[in-house]
Amino acid sequence: MRPKSRETPLLRVENLSIAISRGKKTFTAVDGIGFSLREGEILGIVGESGCGKSLTALSIPGLLPSAARVSSGSISFDGRDLRSLSEQEYCLLRGKEIAMVFQEPALSLNPLMRIGRQIEEMLELHGSKDKKINRNRIVEIMENLGLREGEELIRSYPHQLSGGMCQRVMIALAMIGNPRLLIADEPTTALDLTTQAQILDLMRELNHKRGNAILFISHDLGVIRRLCRRVLVMYAGKIVESGTVEDVFDNPLHEYTKSLIDSIPCRERKGLPLANIPGRVPSVEERLPGCPFAPRCGKAREDCCAAFPAERVFNGKQDECAAHQVYCIQRYGETENNASEERGRGGL
Ligand SMILES: Nc1ncnc2c1ncn2[C@@H]1O[C@H](COP(=O)(O)OP(=O)(O)OP(=O)(O)O)[C@@H](O)[C@H]1O
Ligand SMILES: [Mg+2]
Repeated sequence: MRPKSRETPLLRVENLSIAISRGKKTFTAVDGIGFSLREGEILGIVGESGCGKSLTALSIPGLLPSAARVSSGSISFDGRDLRSLSEQEYCLLRGKEIAMVFQEPALSLNPLMRIGRQIEEMLELHGSKDKKINRNRIVEIMENLGLREGEELIRSYPHQLSGGMCQRVMIALAMIGNPRLLIADEPTTALDLTTQAQILDLMRELNHKRGNAILFISHDLGVIRRLCRRVLVMYAGKIVESGTVEDVFDNPLHEYTKSLIDSIPCRERKGLPLANIPGRVPSVEERLPGCPFAPRCGKAREDCCAAFPAERVFNGKQDECAAHQVYCIQRYGETENNASEERGRGGL
């Protein structure tokens, strides 16, 4: 278990913007966001489809698609400026210090290679060349991940495994280098509820036993609530609210967060507009100045469209890893730090 520093964040993202090229035009997909993640912490990112969750995640280990690029801001990991790394340095960082798991595990595994060989390749990549030691480690890794039929699985191909099994193998591969940060982008979305719960247990256990920090992305608020300590709510490329899951889900301040909680998007609705509010997330081409949620917000005023609101802190905690922050100009009550409105929404 790694020591947890209370002071220096493991990951610090500041004023990050990501541009997307469409033909000859460039659009801002992620717009000036900032957040920190401490060693051993689990931070969630939630938001509707197209809000920029995946681009944010992919920018950290330098895996943005070719149409996207970081256009401004900084990403520092353990004090190192990641934007200044060469591709070779990024390769060293990936897998060893930062690893990622994605929504579709079957697509991330090599369909033509037995599972055992894929794990062995990863062990070799991390410098473990002894075949006999590797064989034993493969069985051990699988059993640690609750894949009791280790020996049999080693000889299987990905198509012979269930989605949950594939995801466990992906997590096993990601964990081989014992990364300090695991980025999980919707890792449970394609799984049934029982398997989803098992994967969440596994994440919790990894975090607890090994102290790995986890950045966990999901459109499912229930999943985020169960797993994470803090959450960032993203809308149309912006962070609109952030704080501990208790602060944000029990006392949501931004109208977007409230709508999200009220509609509790379920897996069947992924990618569809929210049930209880009209409209949809503006595409990157449609974004206007001001609060991007204003056109859908029942409480919007004229000045909401003038400029994106500055950050306001609501729970009196200035520490960025404890503060309840909202980006909205609405009045919330007598004083910002007393703006408590017990909501108990959506059974979260
Ligand atoms: N490779 C790409 N080429 C062009 N546009 C892209 C690309 N990847 C993402 N975008 C655009 O950037 C915006 C943010 O996309 P992103 O994938 O980060 O959203 P998301 O929040 O992860 O959504 P989802 O919940 O559907 O996974 C979207 O409008 C999307 O259309
Ligand atoms: Mg995504």
